[in-house]
Amino acid sequence: MKKVIILGGNGFIGKRLASYLLKQDVSVYSFDLTIPSDKENGINYIEGDFFDDDTLMKAVEDKDIVFHCVCTINPGNSWEKYMQAYNLDFIQTVKLCKIVSETNKKMVFLSSGGTVYGKKDIQPIEENSTTYPINHYGALKICIENVIHSFNERINDKIIIARISNPYGPGQDYTKGVGFIDAAIKNAISGKDIVVFGDGSVIRDYIYIDDVVKLLYFLSSYSGEYDTFNVSTGVGTSQNEILDMLKTHYPDMKIKYEKERDVDLKKTVLSNKRLMECCDYKMIDIKDGIFKYVEYLKDLKG
Ligand SMILES: NC(=O)c1ccc[n+]([C@@H]2O[C@H](COP(=O)([O-])OP(=O)(O)OC[C@H]3O[C@@H](n4cnc5c(N)ncnc54)[C@H](O)[C@@H]3O)[C@@H](O)[C@H]2O)c1
Repeated sequence: MKKVIILGGNGFIGKRLASYLLKQDVSVYSFDLTIPSDKENGINYIEGDFFDDDTLMKAVEDKDIVFHCVCTINPGNSWEKYMQAYNLDFIQTVKLCKIVSETNKKMVFLSSGGTVYGKKDIQPIEENSTTYPINHYGALKICIENVIHSFNERINDKIIIARISNPYGPGQDYTKGVGFIDAAIKNAISGKDIVVFGDGSVIRDYIYIDDVVKLLYFLSSYSGEYDTFNVSTGVGTSQNEILDMLKTHYPDMKIKYEKERDVDLKKTVLSNKRLMECCDYKMIDIKDGIFKYVEYLKDLKG
């Protein structure tokens, strides 16, 4: 049985990925700074610091597949924390690529879909579009991607770059800095204002978390000609459209429109043609995804 390790296994994507992998024919290892209090039966938890060389080496050395989900910055705080990101995240990921390439492991690196391409007239954006990161979070991801391309020149089973668009669903926590749908639903539930920057016309490519983790797992077995994939739906939805969908669940929700932010791109929709040509997969429609997430949160409240 293959051993799979998720670095950053307690996070939004890592945790859902670990739960999904438990149902596959693999042994699952979840690596993070702490052991979670809500441990799941069957997952092997490893407590450790990604930035400690020996700890990282020990954690990955006997594994077959590595999902790299650690990132210490996000689009919202990358202007404050970019030196940390280049000093720590970047360097440590280069070290990880070295280990992976020298020991014939498969790795999937979680990059960003929204921030790496920048402003684009032609949408949906394809993987071979030029990249022009709009902030240091995107720039960090591109630095790492470039290093991966160089390693891939010398290894047979390429390291895969997954450029994920805008995931939403169970386990998300918008207070960490990203997640419009999560923020909107949770504020609707608590009766707080749902804050929209601008007139609500900003368009994003929202993808349900269960689709993300299934596609990431698929990519861990991909060994074809490409090393970079958008993990996206290829469908754009505006914030106002999301709010209209939510109104059916929360008719009394309160929306507050504030001045638009110059950091927000007007539209980012990522083509998933490349990925869909490699795997025959049916995405969860945004309305169904929102319904599922609303039901999940209702069940949590009991
Ligand atoms: N959530 C999104 O909207 C989104 C979109 C595109 C790409 N991504 C990327 O996907 C990856 C996972 O995202 P996420 O939303 O699950 O992030 P997250 O912040 O929820 O999870 C990251 C995990 O990494 C762990 N971590 C941080 N420093 C660590 C260290 N020193 N040692 C061990 N573990 C450490 C954290 O404790 C956390 O559990 C990131 O690389 C992120 O940039 C996320």
